[in-house]
This record gives sequence, structure tokens and C-alpha cells, in this order.
Amino acid sequence: MKKVTVLIVVAVLSCMVWLEGCKKDQIDPRSWRPVSFEVPKGWPQPAYTFANNPLTFDGFELGRKLFYDMRLSRDNTVSCGSCHQQVASFAHFDHDISHGIENRLGTRNSPMLANMAWNTSFFWDGGVNHLESQPIAPIQNHLEMDMTMPEVIDRLNADADYRSRFKKVFGIDTANSQRVFRSMAQFMAAMVSSNSKYDKYAANPGAGYFSEQEVRGLTLFRQHCASCHKEPLFSDFSFRNNGLLPKPGVNDSGRAHITGLAEDRYKFKVPSLRNIAVTRPYMHDGRVATLADVVEHYRSGVAAMATTDALVAGGVVMTENEKRDIISFLETLTDSTFITNPLFAEPAK
Ligand code: HEC
Ligand code: HEC
Repeated sequence: MKKVTVLIVVAVLSCMVWLEGCKKDQIDPRSWRPVSFEVPKGWPQPAYTFANNPLTFDGFELGRKLFYDMRLSRDNTVSCGSCHQQVASFAHFDHDISHGIENRLGTRNSPMLANMAWNTSFFWDGGVNHLESQPIAPIQNHLEMDMTMPEVIDRLNADADYRSRFKKVFGIDTANSQRVFRSMAQFMAAMVSSNSKYDKYAANPGAGYFSEQEVRGLTLFRQHCASCHKEPLFSDFSFRNNGLLPKPGVNDSGRAHITGLAEDRYKFKVPSLRNIAVTRPYMHDGRVATLADVVEHYRSGVAAMATTDALVAGGVVMTENEKRDIISFLETLTDSTFITNPLFAEPAK
């Protein structure tokens, strides 16, 4: 597998040499290390390649600052990081539907944001197909951040620190939409999660990383779940109906909202299951509270609709023990190094 590595040593080294020049808002010296993007062994090539947006330490850091900056919302109360929290693998922990400014409620659950570089489309309905055009949606959404891009650009250009950061990354000391989106894409695309217990097991199945129960769970998972939640990313990035009845009053038609096709009704993007134990609640509207309830849904809750996927139609036959085995396997997908990596955390003010 071709390895793409970008080592940004210059920025880190100059920071170490000119210690006094390092401001507080740069990363903790103990965690200094190059920002890099590597395709983990055995993974497919990503959809996002940095070809037109070379990954640099300063670009990543600018994207990180923007991601956590509440000034991207009209009343300065909400950042991307408000709904996408690192502790929850960048989902919104314990929130079923999104809460924007003034506590305005959306209709969908915040997805987690690991391994975005491999996604071929974004949002539950795939309404956006490029990582660099994604942030405009929450920024301009009335229920989320309720800003306009010109207002965001004005705020950033009034800030000397942002101006010097844009200069470092793009050679020009002014923000525009493309530079904002490209730096955010650098931050989000570099968020790779590939260090779970499952990854260690998969790299070396004989080394005893899995208990017998976890091995049984993986076997059952491959039998019942992996055609849609495909390894190693745990999604095939297709749109499917897994048998959740539309909520009255909301009636979210999913993929059909974008394509207008009856055959796409109630189909949603197959979500990755990486870090699934920390991203509850589950499904596009957060209606399912626990992993046990998710597995029970596949056993006894799959509704028969015109578009219900044949792979789950009629329910998946499982015993109580098999359910527990699958849950114990799902728990091996947590990558604690990802959810605690200081590189992805909110920068110190
Ligand atoms: C008010 C909560 C909220 C805020 C603020 C927010 N998001 Fe989201 N985010 C969501 C929800 C909800 C979805 C799913 C939307 C949908 O499917 O229609 C989402 C989806 C996404 C996705 C697509 C993930 C996938 O798997 O398809 C990305 C990437 C993302 N957000 C990044 C951002 C960025 C960058 C910002 C800041 C500019 C941001 N979000 C601000 C709630 C939020
Ligand atoms: C036919 C394809 C398909 C199969 C087979 C399938 N799933 Fe899913 N899964 C989906 C889709 C689509 C969603 C999102 C549905 C929604 O939110 O409306 C989903 C959602 C989930 C979620 C919630 C993820 C989140 O971030 O909210 C979990 C957990 C899950 N599935 C686990 C499983 C398990 C375990 C199995 C096997 C027992 C399985 N799935 C089988 C398509 C599938």
C-alpha cells in the first residue's frame, strides 16, 4: 500500500529553537510531533488526497483553531467542536439531535468525524460530496451557527493572529472561503483513527489481542453486519435502509431528500462503526440509546418498508449470547489514542 507521509519538521523545529516565539496557543511542547497523514496498512486509498491542499503543520493548526472557534457562529456561542467532541470521537456525546445557537434543535444526530478522508460523501443523506465544501453547511445553517461566509471572513480578517496564520499557510494575510475550508479540511482529513484493539488483532490475529468472546463476536459481525459496515473502515459508504421507521412529524426521507427518487426513500449513509462505544446515542436521529438496543433493533425491530435492505429484512437471527458477543466485538473498535490525542484537542487560549 502506498504510503503518503508529510512530515512538517521545519515548523516544529523552528518552534523548538525559538522557544520564546512559541505562543501559548500552540500545542503543548510535550506533545510536539509532526503532523502526518499515512494510509494505514491494508486500507484502501483515501478519497481526499491533499493533492490540491498540501498538508502542513501550520495549515492543520489553522484548521484546528477554526474548528474550535465560537466566532464562527452568529452569537459566538457555538463552534464545530460544540457538536463534535473529541471524547466522543467527534460526535456529540449523549445528544440525540443537534443543538445549535440559542439551543435551536436540528433533526439529525452529529456523526463522529474519524477517517473523514475516506468518505466519498458527507451527511446522513450524502448531500455534500467534498470535504472542502462541507463546513459551509453548518456555518450557514439557521439552526446551527447561523452565520454567512462574508461575516465569518470579516471577523477573521479583523484578527491579527488569524491574518498572520493565513499568511504562513497560504502566503497571503487575508482569509477567504477557500482558505478557510482548505485549512479545516487539513485538520479533519488528518484525523485518522486506526489504533483500536481490533486493529492490533487484525494485524496479528495469533497474538492474543482478542478474548474468545471477541473472536466469536467478530465472526458473527462478519456474517451479519460487515456487508454494509465493511472492514477496515466499517462502512461501504453506500446508502441503505436498515429498517428504522420514519419519525412522525419529521419524516426524514434520507437519501431521497437529495436524489428525489422513491427508491432512495429512508436510505441513510452507512455510518462507520469505529469508536462506536463512545458515540452514543445512535442512528441518524439518535433514537437508539445503547449498543444493546442497536443489536436488538437488527434482531427484532427491522421494519418492512419498500426500501428495507434485503440483508436485514425480516430481522437477523441471533441468540442472547450471540448479541452479547457482537457487542463485545463492537467495543474493541474504540481507539483511545485517537480520542485523547492532544493534536486534535481544543488549542489552549
Ligand atoms: C449544531 C451542531 C453542529 C455544529 C455546530 C456543527 N456540526 Fe457538523 N454535523 C452536525 C450534524 C447534525 C451533522 C449531520 C447532518 C446531516 O446529516 O444532515 C453533521 C455532519 C458533519 C460532517 C459530515 C460527517 C459525515 O460522516 O458525513 C462533518 C465533516 C462535519 N459535520 C463537520 C463540521 C464542521 C467543520 C463544523 C464547523 C464549521 C460543524 N460540523 C459544525 C452537527 C453540527
Ligand atoms: C443493510 C446494511 C446494514 C447491515 C447489514 C447492518 N447495518 Fe448497521 N447501519 C446501517 C445503516 C444504513 C445505518 C444508519 C441508519 C440510520 O441512521 O438511519 C446503520 C447504523 C448502525 C449503527 C449506529 C451507528 C451510529 O453512528 O449511529 C450501529 C451501531 C450499527 N448499525 C451496527 C450494526 C450491526 C451490529 C449490524 C449487524 C448485526 C449491522 N449494523 C448491520 C446499515 C446496515
